[in-house]
Amino acid sequence: MVKMETSELETDLSLFKYDHLEQLPPRYRELDEAERTERIETALEELGDDVVILGHNYQRREIVEHADFVGDSYQLSKEAANAEAEYVIFGGVTFMAESADIITDDDQTVILPSMEASCPMAGMAEALQVDAAWAEITAAAPDAEIIPITYMNSYADLKAFCAEQGGLVCTSSNAHRAFEWAFERGDKVLFLPDKHLGENTAHRLGMDDRIATWDPWDPDGKDPEAVAESDIILWDGYCQVHERFRVDHVKAVREENPDAKVIVHPECRREVVEAADRAGSTADICRTVEEAAPGETWAIGTEIHLTEHLARWHPEVNVLPLCGDACMDCNAMRQIDPNYLTWVLEELAAGRERNVIEVAPGEKELAKVALERMLEV
Ligand code: 13P
Ligand code: SF4
Repeated sequence: MVKMETSELETDLSLFKYDHLEQLPPRYRELDEAERTERIETALEELGDDVVILGHNYQRREIVEHADFVGDSYQLSKEAANAEAEYVIFGGVTFMAESADIITDDDQTVILPSMEASCPMAGMAEALQVDAAWAEITAAAPDAEIIPITYMNSYADLKAFCAEQGGLVCTSSNAHRAFEWAFERGDKVLFLPDKHLGENTAHRLGMDDRIATWDPWDPDGKDPEAVAESDIILWDGYCQVHERFRVDHVKAVREENPDAKVIVHPECRREVVEAADRAGSTADICRTVEEAAPGETWAIGTEIHLTEHLARWHPEVNVLPLCGDACMDCNAMRQIDPNYLTWVLEELAAGRERNVIEVAPGEKELAKVALERMLEV
């Protein structure tokens, strides 16, 4: 297994959506793993059934090891919907914690251990900006019914906007079903914010030649004629972690390991998905490795923590990172530091709630409609 490269991402796109959340008190900064683990376990024992910890597949080992459930965005939203604990501690990024707050009951509280865990891609489609673009896009096709679909990787206000306009949310595991749902009700889809997932989904539906891209940052990137002529309009957002994978990485891994099969996340570029053997959500990637025969080699094109977990969980399978040392960790996911987890749990055990994620009431009801539509498709 290669050593993990800790990326030095530019964070100017990473908007800290909840900047009122608190920073880690200095006394928690230097805890070593043994002490931290003991303290986390003690706090969890005290809190008992009052707390459930949900962890995304991209979380660090030290978070995943304490999670009651680890999974992809779709599974985590279902777990949140079914959770009975008073407190849901979310090991993931802001948009995931928001979705958990939307989908849990009003008497449940969602806590995001660190304020800095904001997905840059979610920040690429701000609701206000989308609202302005919506006016231009609908004007370009005045007779068409356009259904907006937002990827789970977006903020609650955009989810609310989509519900209001008759649309829904999807994750990477059900994007094709969300598109089918939309085309049963309308003529065109506006998909936000991930153009690569949108393009890969269009391909899956045999609609590659029906796509237009809308780049809100480039005056030449907004073409009303293309909108009028297309069925799928893709917002020009992307994930920096997944954009990094190239076809050359697929070729190189196969040259070095002729028996290797390649699986990538559908946030990768279309040509990378095309070159791979399979593409799927993080849960699909986990299932593929779980079901692999002993001795099989799988190269994984996604965030590096998941690749490292899979190598640890399935030593009988030869698990490789698709782009070796260049594979990236997600800067946002990495912010959920185990010291923060220790702090929020000990504070809860002492009766104090820290870093609560609370979506504004009006927005919450609408966003819930968009999420429930997703859970039904
Ligand atoms: P999954 O929905 O596949 O878990 O992916 C979430 C994500 O953020 C991928 O970058
Ligand atoms: Fe966002 Fe990409 Fe990180 Fe997923 S991996 S949370 S899309 S930045």
